[in-house]
Amino acid sequence: MDSFLIKGGVPLHGEVEISGAKNAVLPIMAATLLTNEPCVIRRVPNLSDVRFMAQILEWLGAKVKVDGDTVHVHAKKIKGHADYDLVRKMRGSICIMGPLLGRLNKATVSLPGGCVIGARPINLHLKAFEALGAKIRIESGYVEASAKRLVGGPMFLGGRAGSTVLGTANAMMAAVLANGVTTIESAACEPEVVDVANFLIAMGAKIQGAGGPTVTITGVKALHGAEHNVIPDRIEAATFAIAAAMTNGQITIKGARADHLHAVIDKLQEAGVVVDHRGSDMIVRRGTKLKPSDVTTLPYPGFPTDVQAQMMALMTMSPGISIITERIFESRFMHVSELTRLGADIQIEGPSAIVKGGKPLSGAPVMASDLRASAALVIAGLAAKGTTQVNRVYHLDRGYEQMDVKLRKLGARIQRIEES
Ligand code: EPU
Repeated sequence: MDSFLIKGGVPLHGEVEISGAKNAVLPIMAATLLTNEPCVIRRVPNLSDVRFMAQILEWLGAKVKVDGDTVHVHAKKIKGHADYDLVRKMRGSICIMGPLLGRLNKATVSLPGGCVIGARPINLHLKAFEALGAKIRIESGYVEASAKRLVGGPMFLGGRAGSTVLGTANAMMAAVLANGVTTIESAACEPEVVDVANFLIAMGAKIQGAGGPTVTITGVKALHGAEHNVIPDRIEAATFAIAAAMTNGQITIKGARADHLHAVIDKLQEAGVVVDHRGSDMIVRRGTKLKPSDVTTLPYPGFPTDVQAQMMALMTMSPGISIITERIFESRFMHVSELTRLGADIQIEGPSAIVKGGKPLSGAPVMASDLRASAALVIAGLAAKGTTQVNRVYHLDRGYEQMDVKLRKLGARIQRIEES
């Protein structure tokens, strides 16, 4: 497994281009299953999760061609069954279930299981399918949803942690071809959900209200092929912004959507980071001094759970006490023990991490455990004195396009060590 070797202490300077959003492109690729006509998706990041999704689509019978950052999918004829070996590699693959059910009125998909950030239940996805009239059967690790014909109806998709991102996407994708009107209450408002809705609308779907808590879908007979540009990855932009602040540098983040980052920018400013805007570019640098900040992760437009680990890394450098509370995924603190290896002082109390910041970080070998934890360790390594080796960076390759290459362009001394 590859690792990154980082010689820390170099302030980042220069420009970085943000790639397309992983969490938008995965359900958008799945949505191509809803039509037998060709679709073209642009600004697709080159990530292992995207390659997994391409494999899943091919396995289901679609033709997939990748040409640079453009992906062509033609799902002329497909089957409605996805095996455990396909699904287990990526929890996000559950988002094929809505389109399969929408197109074929039947889908059998292996249950994805949990992962290191916490249990990943799909009860709300199933609730959505049931609200559309599907019968659900769970047997031998597989979930089967089937209906003679899906029929639109009302559904409430709020769970114990609030709305569900992929659950909302799945509900929309199943409902677009259903007979009649579907209303999703407590829908996820994340920009990625809006991007999926926009792609579906380009395919001929009738969807209103995406981006708000009530989404209304009026079923249509068939969808056609469409072209779509994926939105920029707000989590990647936030990660680079925090890296600039941690290394005391100044970077220009090109093509970021600041309007998708209000909560992050607000907390960064509170923490003493200066964020300026020039057109669609964001210019980020550390102000005179970093300050502690209390952060609670919440569904959008709240502070994203996918930036919690990176924000915690920043807080280790802010003199004083910061409290970071995780409200979305109960075990998403895998980075804490590794940040501690770099010299951070962090204690976990229930859903909160108490960070006593201000002590300089010093390099050490660390182990990446999930995607965002890995990102936090890399940016902490960039700010730490000495050498940090981040092992098992395949987690990072799942969600950050060429992070090492982009960081090197900003002046970081970071090297990928390929395992032979
Ligand atoms: N939940 C349920 N029941 C469900 C579905 C979710 O109780 O049926 C709970 C979850 O356990 C969690 C909360 O609802 O407590 C929110 O989960 P959500 O369904 O929104 O997560 P997701 O759609 O599976 C996506 C992203 C995650 C991101 C979350 C939250 C993709 C492929 N994944 O997951 O991204 O953290 O939304 O914003 O879109 C990442 O990129 O590193 C990542 C983990």
